[in-house]
Amino acid sequence: MNLVKYRDRKNTNSVKWDNLKNIFGQKDLLPLWVADMDFEVPDCVKEALHKYVEEGVFGYSLPDRGYAKAFIDWEYKYHGYKVDKKWIRFAPGVVPAISWIINALTKEGDPVIITPPVYYPFKQVVTSNKRALVESHLVNKDGYYRIDFEDFEEKILDQGVKLFILCSPHNPVGRVWDRDELVRLLDICKRNGVYVIADEIHQDIIIGDKFQYPAASLGDYSKILVTLTAATKTFNLAACQNSFVIIEDEDLRSKYDVFTEKIRSGSGNAFGYIAVQAAYEAGRDWLEEVLDIIRANYSFLKEGLDSRLPKARLTPLEGTYLAWLDLGTYLGSDEIEEVIKNRCGLAVDFGSWFGGQKYASFIRINLATSRENIEILLDRLALIGEDK
Ligand SMILES: Cc1ncc(COP(=O)(O)O)c(C=O)c1O
Repeated sequence: MNLVKYRDRKNTNSVKWDNLKNIFGQKDLLPLWVADMDFEVPDCVKEALHKYVEEGVFGYSLPDRGYAKAFIDWEYKYHGYKVDKKWIRFAPGVVPAISWIINALTKEGDPVIITPPVYYPFKQVVTSNKRALVESHLVNKDGYYRIDFEDFEEKILDQGVKLFILCSPHNPVGRVWDRDELVRLLDICKRNGVYVIADEIHQDIIIGDKFQYPAASLGDYSKILVTLTAATKTFNLAACQNSFVIIEDEDLRSKYDVFTEKIRSGSGNAFGYIAVQAAYEAGRDWLEEVLDIIRANYSFLKEGLDSRLPKARLTPLEGTYLAWLDLGTYLGSDEIEEVIKNRCGLAVDFGSWFGGQKYASFIRINLATSRENIEILLDRLALIGEDK
């Protein structure tokens, strides 16, 4: 044990810790927003980067041969998905890749469907590329979220949807989709000629006992499917800007290649390649420890809420390190942001960011931090229960 070290990230140019004033209007908040971890990376990553820095030459470089292999081995070993090297493309991030794929496969005005509440850059990337946003909201039954398949297909048909952005596991509701849910979604898309971008960036952060199925491993969806994943959430490497685009179909791949050739952006930086390769090759034990910390933080939060804010509703966490909490029985939707920031001193992702007012009673809490920070969170959240 103790492969994972907590790190005070204040004054390290961290978006999460040092950009609070910009986003929340004040500095002195406990930051539990942005999805990165307050943990140092595995030692194997530091060692590989040190070695590279010591070489002292940073001219144009290729990824090491072991880079793709490390990813392919990881995908097969932990997700049962056999990736062929020629299907892999590089992108500096999953969000840029979503934008590029939208450009490569659709045209302005084309409808793109998402399933809110969902990671808010999905909406931003659709609208900033001037595609028409179509939303099929998840259904929340007794705090557990599911897809509304009838609504999803109806909207696809009615609005002539061209592309779907799947979030799997789903941020922020923490679902790891069941095999039959994924197959049903993919079948709907296949029979209606809808492309699917499967954003599987949280694929390794599995908290419960479910198996995370890569969409591409579930059948013949290659004509419609592009998979995106990365080591950046898994190993806390967001600053390395490195992600994988997997496109099995030659025709889709060539559309993607034509677009990335146009913007001259098909390769990444050496630091990212080196960090990611080292993490996939030797970081598994570190990850297991991180997962145990997140599980323990979630249980601690749940027990703390049960005793201190018993009417708050914490969504079951199957995947991701992001807890989705409904405070609607304590706070009105119009007061929640103000109370959470000013009274509780917390910086969290507010529910409305993920799909509008319908989710304004929710907050999203990042659990990839120390137990002490979760204790502070609980003490501060308890303040809202005092006069109820
Ligand atoms: C579902 C999802 N996709 C993508 C990203 C960000 O990916 P990247 O930093 O590679 O653009 C996040 C980060 O929180 C995320 O939750």
